[in-house]
Amino acid sequence: MKTFYIETFGCQMNAHDSEKVVGTLLQKGYTQVERPDEAELVLYNTCSIRDKAEQKVFSRLQQFKREAGNGKVFGVLGCVAQQEGERIFERAPHVSLVAGSASYTKLPELLVQVEGGNRRVTGLSLDTDQTFDTPFTQRDNPHRAYITIIEGCDKACAYCVVPFTRGPERSRTSESVLREASTLAGSGYSEIQLLGQNVNSYRDPSSSGWDFAQLLANTGNVPGIRRVRFTTSHPRDFVKDIVDAIDDNPVLCNHVHLPVQSGSSSVLSRMQRLYSRDQYMRRIEWMKNAKRNIAITTDIIVGFPGETESDFEQTLQLAEEVEYDSMFIFKYSKRPNTSALQFEDHIPEEEKTRRLMVLQERQRAIQIRRNAEFIGKSEEVLVEGYNVATRQWIGRTTQNKTLNFCDSNLPAPADGDTLVGRYAQVLVTRAGPNSLAGERLAPAVPGVQ
Ligand code: 5AD
Ligand code: SF4
Repeated sequence: MKTFYIETFGCQMNAHDSEKVVGTLLQKGYTQVERPDEAELVLYNTCSIRDKAEQKVFSRLQQFKREAGNGKVFGVLGCVAQQEGERIFERAPHVSLVAGSASYTKLPELLVQVEGGNRRVTGLSLDTDQTFDTPFTQRDNPHRAYITIIEGCDKACAYCVVPFTRGPERSRTSESVLREASTLAGSGYSEIQLLGQNVNSYRDPSSSGWDFAQLLANTGNVPGIRRVRFTTSHPRDFVKDIVDAIDDNPVLCNHVHLPVQSGSSSVLSRMQRLYSRDQYMRRIEWMKNAKRNIAITTDIIVGFPGETESDFEQTLQLAEEVEYDSMFIFKYSKRPNTSALQFEDHIPEEEKTRRLMVLQERQRAIQIRRNAEFIGKSEEVLVEGYNVATRQWIGRTTQNKTLNFCDSNLPAPADGDTLVGRYAQVLVTRAGPNSLAGERLAPAVPGVQ
């Protein structure tokens, strides 16, 4: 069994876990293939944050069920694997491997068992103090790299499966994080994204005892690294030192994703979020008062059990007050094991949909306003690609906004000459709700690469 296919669902943590899983498999002599029908080992790295995400993997497993007979082996990894455990063998008997992310350090051993013909291999223990560190990570992007700094979550938000699927919090040493950043800089990566379910509760397990702000500041000083991002932040653990670190070093991108979930303190309290609306707004003020123009993005759940019309109004008001640069809005979805299951006053599906649409509409107007402020300004972008249909280069600003642009000197990639992976200075000339557009300033302009 030496060819494998992997499909990944869910968040950036999952995307990065898959990069490490792929690296581990390649190192064990496997070859990656692009289609499940070509593979001897088919892996799904799954997400269970909402019911829809969970259902996806079961429909995928159904799709390929018939092929299991001819020696094809299926494995379920990630959050659904952890959540459903051995029940997956009952629901999909052609699955041979079920492993949650807290067991990935044991992946080579688990693979040996699968290769040996064991048809029910599991890695489901959450009792671990280890992080999944491997030198064999096979990264998808040659310019931007994820680095995990903390795994797991010790919070207990009433709606959330993550503490049950990713185990307890455990931080990596700052030394290994900085070493990885340096190695990446040496191999041509210029942007780093520090990852964790809650990066703000990072605590260096080695003697330096750094907190997240210290780790962030030091990552920003790694030679060769031009941009550092981080995700995700929990407002309760978000301290002013993080804003100060961003103010002190332009290498640290001026974008903070700070999920609020609701604008109502009473909903926040029932969600067990551990902060009130006022406490959240204090953190927003730190960012609004910063020297740099920090983009703020968020996640919101509409229709949490018991959310009244007035609670929802408070969320709308909060969105107006903060003026988020972008927002992910989700309808509340019941998850196994979570404490919100015990609430009785569930909101009807149509009402959740209505609230989602109202908020989306408001947020769209806010984004149009926010983005229009960039017209006439010059922004540095990391060039990510070229869009053949629109004949524009695709760049990303430090605020994490997409900025599409034309370049009169290089209207399209030519003779191996491409801007992808390089930095360019772009004059913003137009703005929409979801992106900016502009023209590249001539490279001769001082201070421009
Ligand atoms: N229902 C809906 N949305 C959820 N999220 C987490 N759990 C649920 C759930 N049960 C959302 C939160 C979180 C984002 C990653 O997913 O907004 O920040
Ligand atoms: Fe999905 Fe959460 Fe697991 Fe990420 S950690 S894959 S969002 S359930």
